[in-house]
Amino acid sequence: MSLFNYVVIFILISLWINGIYSENPCAARQIKGQSIVCVCNSTYCDEIVRSIPREGTYIAYTSSEAGARFRKTTGLLGPNEDSLLSHNESVRITTLTVNTGKVFQRIEGFGGAVTDAAAINWKNLTDPRLRQNLIKSYFGTSGIEYNMVRVPIGGCDFSTHPYAYNDVPEYDANLTHFNLTSEDYEYKIPMLKAIKQESRAPIYVLGTTWSPPGWMKTNHALVGPSHLLPQYYQTYADYHLKFVQKYTEAGIPIWGITTTNEPVNGDFLIVKFNSLGWTAKNMGKWIAEYLGPTIQNSTFRGLKILAVDDQRITIPYFYSLMIKEHPQALQYIDGIAVHFYYDMLSPPELFSLIAKHYPDKFIISSEACVGNYPWDIQKVILGSWQRAYTYIHDIFQDLNYNLVSWLDWNLCLNKEGGPNWAGNMVDSPIIVDTENGEFLKQPMFYAMGHFSKFVPRGSRRVEVMESKPFYYRSLLHVAFLTPNNTVTTIVYNKDCFNRTVKVKVGNYQEVLLSLEAKSITTIEIPV
Ligand SMILES: *[C@@H]1O[C@H](CO)[C@@H](O)[C@H](O)[C@H]1NC(C)=O
Ligand SMILES: *[C@@H]1O[C@H](CO)[C@@H](O)[C@H](O)[C@H]1NC(C)=O
Ligand SMILES: *[C@@H]1O[C@H](CO)[C@@H](O)[C@H](O)[C@H]1NC(C)=O
Ligand SMILES: *[C@@H]1O[C@H](CO)[C@@H](O)[C@H](O)[C@H]1NC(C)=O
Ligand SMILES: *[C@@H]1O[C@H](CO)[C@@H](O)[C@H](O)[C@H]1NC(C)=O
Ligand SMILES: *[C@@H]1O[C@H](CO)[C@@H](O)[C@H](O)[C@H]1NC(C)=O
Ligand SMILES: *[C@@H]1O[C@H](CO)[C@@H](O)[C@H](O)[C@H]1NC(C)=O
Ligand SMILES: *[C@@H]1O[C@H](CO)[C@@H](O)[C@H](O)[C@H]1NC(C)=O
Repeated sequence: MSLFNYVVIFILISLWINGIYSENPCAARQIKGQSIVCVCNSTYCDEIVRSIPREGTYIAYTSSEAGARFRKTTGLLGPNEDSLLSHNESVRITTLTVNTGKVFQRIEGFGGAVTDAAAINWKNLTDPRLRQNLIKSYFGTSGIEYNMVRVPIGGCDFSTHPYAYNDVPEYDANLTHFNLTSEDYEYKIPMLKAIKQESRAPIYVLGTTWSPPGWMKTNHALVGPSHLLPQYYQTYADYHLKFVQKYTEAGIPIWGITTTNEPVNGDFLIVKFNSLGWTAKNMGKWIAEYLGPTIQNSTFRGLKILAVDDQRITIPYFYSLMIKEHPQALQYIDGIAVHFYYDMLSPPELFSLIAKHYPDKFIISSEACVGNYPWDIQKVILGSWQRAYTYIHDIFQDLNYNLVSWLDWNLCLNKEGGPNWAGNMVDSPIIVDTENGEFLKQPMFYAMGHFSKFVPRGSRRVEVMESKPFYYRSLLHVAFLTPNNTVTTIVYNKDCFNRTVKVKVGNYQEVLLSLEAKSITTIEIPV
C-alpha cells in the first residue's frame, strides 16, 4: 500500500472512532502558573471510553503538562519505515520492545479511599447528578474504572472528630456494644453502594484500623504513642471480625484487611492523629495466635490479611522481624501493604527481599497522597502537573517491582484539603467546590487513569526492553497483557522536548508516536 492509502485509512478509522464514541472532552480551566483542571458540574463532566482496537490498529491516549487529557489518537500498526522520518528524527528514536513471552505479576486493581472526609465531601454536593458524575468519573466505564477501595475501620484523621467503634462502654472485652456509627450509615456505606452500582468489575474493599478504642490501649487514648494491652489481643481480633460482619450485612462485602495503619509510626513518633503502635514481635504474636485463627475460624476465612501497611522503608525491619519471631504468622498472611511516603529514602529493591524470601506473598501500595509533608505550605495546589508526576513516577516503579495494586488516599477533599480533625490537610485528585456546585479533576486524576482504566484486573505485566540513543535518558515505561487480548504499554516522557518512540510487540505490530514534553501516553495494541 502506498503512504496515501495509509493516510486515507487512518482518516476513516479516526472518523469511525470519533463517530461511535462521542465523549465529552475536558472542560478545562487554566490555573495560573500550573497546568489545567477539568471542571465537572451537574450537567457536564468529561468522559473517556476504552474501546478495544481492531486488528491491525492501535489506540493511544495522552495527557500532558501542556493540557492534553486522554487525547485519543489511532492509527495502523506498522512495520514503520524509518525512512518516513527525517534523518534527525530516526537517529533519536527510542524503541520499546514488548516481550509477551516473559510474564510477571497479575494485577488486582487500582483505587482510592472512602474516608469519612471523602464521603462527607461527596454527600455535600447537593445535586444528585453532581454526586453521580463524581462516582462515574472514578468507577464508571466512561470514567477511569477504579476497582478497589480502602475504608478506615472507624475513624482516622480524615474524620470530623476522633472516634473508634465501641468507645463506650469501656472494658467491654466481648464487644457487646459494637456498632457502626453515623459516619458509616450516612456517608461511607451510601458512597460505597453508589460505587458498587456504577462499577462493572467487582469492587475489592480493604479495611484498615487506625486506632481501636482507648480502653484497649496502654495510653487510654486514640492518639499518641501506645500499644495494645495484652488482655485485649483477642478483643482486637474480634473487633476486625465484627467490622467485616457489619459491613457485609450492610451490603458491602470486604475483600481484605490490613493489620493496623502505620504501626511503626504509632510506636516511635509523636503522631497527632489516631494510631496504634506495634513492635514487630508483638504484631507477629497477635497475627499468629489471635487475628489469624479468629478469621480462619469464621465464615470469612477467604478474607485477605495484609501485614505492614506502613512505609516501604519499614519492610526489612518490620516484616522480617515479625516473621523471625513468629513464623506461624506467615500462614495467615496473604501479602503486605506499603505506603508511598518517603519513598525517596528507600530503594524499591526492598520489594525484591519479599519476592525472594516470601515468593507466595503479594505486595500492594495501599496509600499515597501529596501535600502531606511539613514543608508543603500549600496543601491543595490546583492544576499541579508536578504532583501528578509524583504519582506517575511511583506507580511505574512499584509496577516494575511486581506490586499488584496501587491505591490513592482520599477520593475527594474540599478546597482546604479536608475535613481533617487533626489539621493534617493534604491534596486529592478531585477537589469539591460545594458553593459553586462543581468539582475539579486534578492532573493526578488523569495520572491514575492512565493505569487504572487500561490495566484491568487480571492483566499480567510483561517484559519491556528499551533501546535509546546514549545521550537521552530512559523513558518511564511498563507493559501488560490484558484479559482483552491486548498489550497496554504506558510511557512517560520526562523531558521538556518531544521524543519519538517506537513500541514494538511483534514484527507486524509496531506503533510510531511522538511523545510530547512531560506527557504520559497509554497505547493499546491487539495481540
Ligand atoms: C456546566 O459546564 C458546562 C461545560 O463547561 C457549561 O457549558 C455549563 O454552563 C455549566 N453549567 C452550569 C450550571 O454552570
Ligand atoms: C538536523 O540536525 C542538525 C544538527 O543537529 C541540524 O543542523 C539540522 O538543522 C537538523 N535538521 C532538521 C530538519 O531538524
Ligand atoms: C465475655 O464472655 C464470656 C463468655 O460468654 C464471659 O465469661 C465473660 O465474663 C465476658 N467478659 C466480659 C468482660 O463481659
Ligand atoms: C447502631 O447505630 C445505628 C446508627 O447510629 C442506630 O440506628 C442503631 O440503633 C444502633 N444499633 C445498636 C444495636 O445500638
Ligand atoms: C471456632 O468457632 C467455634 C464456634 O464459633 C468455637 O466454638 C471454637 O471455640 C472456635 N475455635 C477457635 C480455635 O477459636
Ligand atoms: C459543605 O458545603 C458547605 C457549602 O455549601 C460548606 O460551607 C461546608 O464547609 C462544607 N462541608 C465540608 C465538610 O466541607
Ligand atoms: C475486557 O475483558 C473483560 C473480561 O473478559 C470484560 O469484562 C470487559 O468488558 C472487556 N473490556 C472491554 C473494553 O471490552
Ligand atoms: C511537540 O508535540 C506537540 C504535540 O504533538 C506538538 O503540538 C508540538 O508542535 C511539538 N513540538 C515540536 C517542537 O515539535
